[in-house]
Amino acid sequence: MKILVTGGTGYIGSHTCVELLQKGYEVVVFDNLYNSKRDVVDKIEKITGKKITFYKADMLDKESMRPVFAEHTFDAVIHFAGLKAVGESVEKPLLYYKNNIAGTLNLCEMMNEYGCKKIIFSSSATVYGSPETVPITEDFPLSTTNPYGSTKLMLEGILSDLCVPDKEWSVVLLRYFNPIGAHESGLLGESPNGIPNNLMPYIMQVAVGKLPELGVFGNDYDTPDGTGVRDYIHVVDLAKGHVNAVEKATSANGVNIYNLGTGNGYSVLDIVKVFEAANGVTIPYSIKPRRAGDIATCYANPKKAKDELGWEAKYDLQRMCEDSWRFAKMNQ
Ligand code: NAD
Ligand code: WQD
Repeated sequence: MKILVTGGTGYIGSHTCVELLQKGYEVVVFDNLYNSKRDVVDKIEKITGKKITFYKADMLDKESMRPVFAEHTFDAVIHFAGLKAVGESVEKPLLYYKNNIAGTLNLCEMMNEYGCKKIIFSSSATVYGSPETVPITEDFPLSTTNPYGSTKLMLEGILSDLCVPDKEWSVVLLRYFNPIGAHESGLLGESPNGIPNNLMPYIMQVAVGKLPELGVFGNDYDTPDGTGVRDYIHVVDLAKGHVNAVEKATSANGVNIYNLGTGNGYSVLDIVKVFEAANGVTIPYSIKPRRAGDIATCYANPKKAKDELGWEAKYDLQRMCEDSWRFAKMNQ
């Protein structure tokens, strides 16, 4: 089977390419390299010993995607390409709506034109807004608090609507919780430009000495130690979930929605402690005010993915911290 991976040189996409290749899929990637580098392709090939076909293409330039579709017949598309920084989306809403929404519309038009109607979409736990209870199941009410989240919720709706008039469409919406960690080789991982917004990339920069200390955003939440609780999931576990989702998308029609999380909640201070113990380093931190828009607690009920996709996360927090640290040291 041949799979198109949009955004395949990015953080989650690159790990997913590895898992697909190791399972025997043929992989074609396109990316505009806005937030990733071309040498990721070489790293994926080094890890797997297999080749992928890479195109530099931009979803906003529809014709740049045409060779990708004209030169291959795809069994399914895994759609990672998009912009993902919550704070930036508040500052630049048009950029986010244009890239994520208009880009995906162009992609879907190409898929229709070339007769590939199976898509696995990177959604996010952000579509649950501020959940009233945890763990979160897929039928919880949906809402968003920022333009990034709104693009995810709108795209969930747009992709679902495609399935109404045309029964050949199959859409799998994967709602990721908090992906962290890196490939065990140390070759693939997440290295954001500038000062990181997310917790683990920030901790990694403190650990390698690029930043002096971690600011912990609030210790007065209604959680066991007062700091925010999240469902951190190893990016390799997340990547494996996409392989199961491909099997679903190519064997079912209509819309299927799954949480991809571990079902465990860890606080910011839990992460600091486990990172320090796993890696023998100290992470200096100080308590800062709450970050606007943050919620106290967010973790998944991942049972539906286990029951219907036969997938569950395997790696524990210690392993996530070890792999993050190895990547940080090898890519300073
Ligand atoms: P990433 O930025 O590492 O990867 C996204 C890739 O898409 C990048 O390589 C970027 O260059 C590419 N891209 C962006 N706009 C494009 C365009 N117009 N045309 C072609 N390529 C384009 O991000 P990631 O962490 O790997 O996330 C992948 C997907 O998962 C995104 O859609 C993101 O919103 C979603 N997601 C991520 C997280 C997370 O915490 N990392 C959580 C939930 C959902
Ligand atoms: C985790 C916890 C912070 C940084 C975001 C997006 C979400 C999804 C995943 C894409 C929180 C605390 C953080 C720091 C801190 N992405 N923190 N100091 O906010 O749960 O989710 O990424 O879909 O949509 O919103 O992740 O890693 O930013 O924060 O104390 O320097 O760490 O307050 O409790 P978040 P995060």
